[in-house]
Amino acid sequence: MVTVRKPRSAEGVVRFESVTKNYGKRAVVDNLSFEIARGEVVGFLGPNGAGKTTAMRILSGYFAPSSGHVEIEGIDLFKDPRRAKQRVGYLPETVRFYPDMRVREYLRFVTGLKGVPEKRRTDEVEEKITQCGLSEVSHRLIGRLSKGYRQRVGLAQALIGDPSVLILDEPTTGLDPKQITEIRELIRTLGRERAVILSTHILSEVSMVCNRVLMIHQGQVLASGTVRELEACLKDRDAIFVTVRGPEHERVVTDLLVQIPGAENIRVVERHEGEIRFCLETSHPLDLRPEITELFVKNRLPLLEVRRDQLTLEEIFLKLLKDGWFQMRRAA
Ligand SMILES: Nc1ncnc2c1ncn2[C@@H]1O[C@H](COP(=O)(O)OP(=O)(O)OP(=O)(O)O)[C@@H](O)[C@H]1O
Ligand SMILES: [Mg+2]
Repeated sequence: MVTVRKPRSAEGVVRFESVTKNYGKRAVVDNLSFEIARGEVVGFLGPNGAGKTTAMRILSGYFAPSSGHVEIEGIDLFKDPRRAKQRVGYLPETVRFYPDMRVREYLRFVTGLKGVPEKRRTDEVEEKITQCGLSEVSHRLIGRLSKGYRQRVGLAQALIGDPSVLILDEPTTGLDPKQITEIRELIRTLGRERAVILSTHILSEVSMVCNRVLMIHQGQVLASGTVRELEACLKDRDAIFVTVRGPEHERVVTDLLVQIPGAENIRVVERHEGEIRFCLETSHPLDLRPEITELFVKNRLPLLEVRRDQLTLEEIFLKLLKDGWFQMRRAA
């Protein structure tokens, strides 16, 4: 069982304490605890199925956990859900709402749900329309919008009522590059005065937007640290991907790669249509591409590609798990 660092301060806007959610016999969120203070943008990272969406749904008050305790600004989310939920804005993973409503009409409807005072409602809606770049589509039916615009409507509805907590489940999915930049900037600005938690699979997004990271795996917090700490732990690693034609060469290639000084963690990452892709790790700035190419030419192996890249999030995650980084953080 993982013991997570105890909540650090009294200024925490979000307290998520020993929360468990079971589906059948399986704990999808498993005794998970964290706290988020005002002014923090926390990145929720973890592989598919880690429990991010489930934890975020619980935090939004969408459903109750099997056990545990959640507080928003000191208000118990399950004892006083109406007051607590008024302080929370939630952008769900899949934005599916009222396709037959027009954007402006829908946002107006949300002001009612969020308890925005009657005389503030028009201004509130117009403000969010501008803030989320929805002016051009404000009269259109939600069901006819592109995915990117629907995502913006999702964000706009989450912002209605200026909640002190924002829960954003993969907020940049489906947006074009320009929109992604704008939304990230908006999240950073919003995060100065709120407690924000956002889930993502994009490591660079975490570096750009968040000031703290919670890595979760099988429903538990495995690591928690600042973005700087995480980056410091990763920046010395590179991955080299080597693709060869012919699965029959797997053994020979593995034996060759193992002999190269500085090549570590050699493994097959893909076998597809007669091609086989290996990954090996190196310590930055060591670049083994020339040695690899020379060795393959010398051994007359059908080399298709040698590419240097950063480790993917999944690989970093596994590496951290393997290196005991999580134990290190937990003890901190
Ligand atoms: N209603 C449900 N009934 C049973 N199992 C569920 C249900 N909802 C989610 N799960 C399971 O809970 C686990 C966690 O799912 P969750 O959607 O929270 O993961 P996630 O971290 O958000 O993943 P992703 O990165 O793919 O969005 C998964 O194994 C999923 O299959
Ligand atoms: Mg999810």
